[in-house]
Amino acid sequence: MTLVRDYRPADEQSWLRCRVLAFLATCYYDDVLPAKPSRAGGVDLVAVDEGGDGDAVVGLIDVSVTGATATVETVAVHPDHARRGVGSLLLDRAVARVRPLGVRTLDAWTREDVAALAWYRREGFVEAFRYVHVHAGAQDVDDAVRPAPGLAAVGAFLHGRIEDEERLRRRFTRVHVCRRFVREL
Ligand SMILES: CC(C)(COP(=O)(O)OP(=O)(O)OC[C@H]1O[C@@H](n2cnc3c(N)ncnc32)[C@H](O)[C@@H]1OP(=O)(O)O)[C@@H](O)C(=O)NCCC(=O)NCCS
Repeated sequence: MTLVRDYRPADEQSWLRCRVLAFLATCYYDDVLPAKPSRAGGVDLVAVDEGGDGDAVVGLIDVSVTGATATVETVAVHPDHARRGVGSLLLDRAVARVRPLGVRTLDAWTREDVAALAWYRREGFVEAFRYVHVHAGAQDVDDAVRPAPGLAAVGAFLHGRIEDEERLRRRFTRVHVCRRFVREL
């Protein structure tokens, strides 16, 4: 039985582990946080498995709110609990919490992971915008940035226009398409 409740500071280590494990097999594999970001005014929920260790986080969702728009900052389900409705339950509860705040539009930004794309579409989101993420490494960073005198670039993260996707893919080895998904509430 999965219980959804508000995030508590005591959840932090379990929250971080759940997030990093969920992201490990995705395009966000290197998006590792050492501490949970704190944000005022949003909704941060966790799913805990009542049948197991009551404090173990098996899923999480953070939603920030800016006026009538809310953004899914993070959604992640522990891989051992995937595809059992945990993500859907977290989203339903988050939507129920932000609607009374006057939120009319919920959005989310994600790359090309099959699971995330299928999940957002199934949850009623539609793609509204695309742009490009380039992670340049030692082998191609010189094509991306010109460091200040005395510095040597060893890596860089850059945003590009979707119109330039093919050109960027030819030039750089790690390129993602980042999409904005939108759901009207
Ligand atoms: C996206 C995510 C949160 C979904 O959570 P979940 O609890 O596994 O999903 P649910 O059980 O609520 O929904 C399952 C549905 O999502 C989609 N889905 C989930 N995993 C999928 C996969 N590996 N392949 C294809 N579709 C998948 C399908 O539509 C699936 O329905 P089905 O099982 O009937 O085919 C989870 O896969 C995850 O944590 N991914 C890694 C983190 C991430 O990419 N977050 C979003 C971007 S920041």
